[in-house]
Amino acid sequence: MMVRHLVTIDDLSEAEIQAIFSLADEFLASMPSPGSPHRIRGCLPLADQFVLATLFYEASTRTRFSFETAMIRLGGHVLSSADPKTTSAAKGETIADTVRVLQNYADVIVIRHPCEGAVKVASEYSDVPIINAGDGGHEHPTQTLCDLYTLQREKGSLKNLNVLLWGDLKNGRTVHSLVYGLARFGARIIPLPAEGFGLPEHVTRRLLRDYDCVPLSNDELIDAGTDKFPVDVVYVTPEKPHQRSLFSDVKEKGTDVLRVRLPHNALSKIDACYVTRLQRERMPGDASAENYPMVDTEFLKDRRYRHSSVMHPLPRVTELGYDLDDDARAVYFKQASYGVPVRMALIAALLQIKPDVLGAVPPKKRHSLFARSTVHCDNPNCVTGLETEQRYLTPKFLVIIEDERLTIRCQYCEHESIPEFIGRSSTKKYEPNRMRWESLPDDITLFTDEAAAIAAGYQPYKQRLKV
Ligand code: NCD
Repeated sequence: MMVRHLVTIDDLSEAEIQAIFSLADEFLASMPSPGSPHRIRGCLPLADQFVLATLFYEASTRTRFSFETAMIRLGGHVLSSADPKTTSAAKGETIADTVRVLQNYADVIVIRHPCEGAVKVASEYSDVPIINAGDGGHEHPTQTLCDLYTLQREKGSLKNLNVLLWGDLKNGRTVHSLVYGLARFGARIIPLPAEGFGLPEHVTRRLLRDYDCVPLSNDELIDAGTDKFPVDVVYVTPEKPHQRSLFSDVKEKGTDVLRVRLPHNALSKIDACYVTRLQRERMPGDASAENYPMVDTEFLKDRRYRHSSVMHPLPRVTELGYDLDDDARAVYFKQASYGVPVRMALIAALLQIKPDVLGAVPPKKRHSLFARSTVHCDNPNCVTGLETEQRYLTPKFLVIIEDERLTIRCQYCEHESIPEFIGRSSTKKYEPNRMRWESLPDDITLFTDEAAAIAAGYQPYKQRLKV
C-alpha cells in the first residue's frame, strides 16, 4: 500500500472521511470523560511503536496540542518543534531536505507553514505520512475534518444543511478547505463575507467546476433577500448524482433553472454559522478591522438562527461576542474538543493501526498534470516563489480547459490563472489563449499580456497553432 498524505481535503474520499468519523465516534465512546461527552479521557495502547513529529513554522495552540495529545492518547510518542528559529530552516535548509531527514526520526509528520503549497512539497519528498496543519492561506484540512464532524454530530447529517460562512473568506484557510468539504457532502453554502473579504475567485470557480456547486445571487433567492439577511450569494449543490446534468444546464442557461429545484423556504433556516477572524497575518501593512462584522446574540435574534450552531475554528478576537458563550447554540469549544478524537482517528488510519479506514490509493485528481520550467505560479505566497525551494522545485500545474481557454492550477498552492497569451519557445510565436488541443506541447510559455510576449522576443502567429 502506498503512503497516504493529507495535504488538501480532496486527498480523502467521502467514504474515507465518514470512516474517520466512525472511528472518532468509537474513540469518544470508549474513552469517556464523565459529564463531558465531547471530551476524551485516558490513553490506549495502540500506537506505542510509533512517533509523531509536529513541525510548526507558524503560531498554533489548538492544532499542535490536539495532534500531540491525540498521539499520546493513542499510546504513541511525540517530537515537537514549535519555533521555526530552532530548526535548520533558519540556516536556509529546504523543505525537501528537512522532511528527508525527519522521516528517519518520526513515523508521521504534521506541518504548518506560512507558504501556500509548502506541505505538498514536503509530501513529495517523504515516505512517511505528511499531514497539513495549515499552509498559508491555502487549506487546513484537519480543521475541516473537525468542522464537518462537529456539524454531523450536531445535525445528524451534512446533506442539505444551510451553512453560513462569516468573516474573512478571502484569507481564511479553514474556509477554503471547508467549502469543498461542504459542497462534496451536499450542504448549501451561504457566504456572508466582511466587505472586501469574499471567497477568492479561483475557489468560487472550482466550486462550480469540480463540485457542481452553483452560486445563486441575492435577488434570485426565494425568501432570502430580506434586509435582515443580505446574502451575497448561495452555493447550491446537486441533491442526487444524476442532477449533475441539471447543473450543466445552469452553467449554460443561468441560475433561473435552479428556482425550480430549490425547495420553497429552503433557506428560511440556517443550520450553522461558521465565524472566522480577520486573518491579519496574511495581509500587507496594518490591516484595519474597523468595519469587521461581529456575530453576537443580537445578530442571532432572527428566527432563521433559532437552531443555528455557532461555530468558529478559533482563536476568536472581536468577531464573536462573549455573550454567546452561555448560549446553547454556541458549539465552538466543543468543536475544538472534537479535534482530539478526529485527529486520533486520522493518525490511526494513516499509520495503518486501523487498516480499514483508508483505501490503498488516494482519490483520483480530476485534471491532468503538466510540469513546465518555463511557466511560473503567479501567487506571490506560493512555495515555488521561495528562493530556497527554487533550487530544486519545478513548477507543476493541473491543466483545465474551460470556455475554449486554458486555465492552469498550481499543483502546490492551487491558485488558478488564465494567461492572456500562449507562446511556443521553439518557434518564438504567440497567440491569444484559445485552446484547441488535448495535450500541451512541451515548450509552452504563458504570458499575462501581449507586451510580455513581445518583450520576451515573441512574434504573433498569423495562422492557428497546429499540434
Ligand atoms: C485557524 C488557522 O490556523 O487557520 N486556527 C486553527 O487552527 N484552529 C484559524 C485562525 O487562525 O483564524
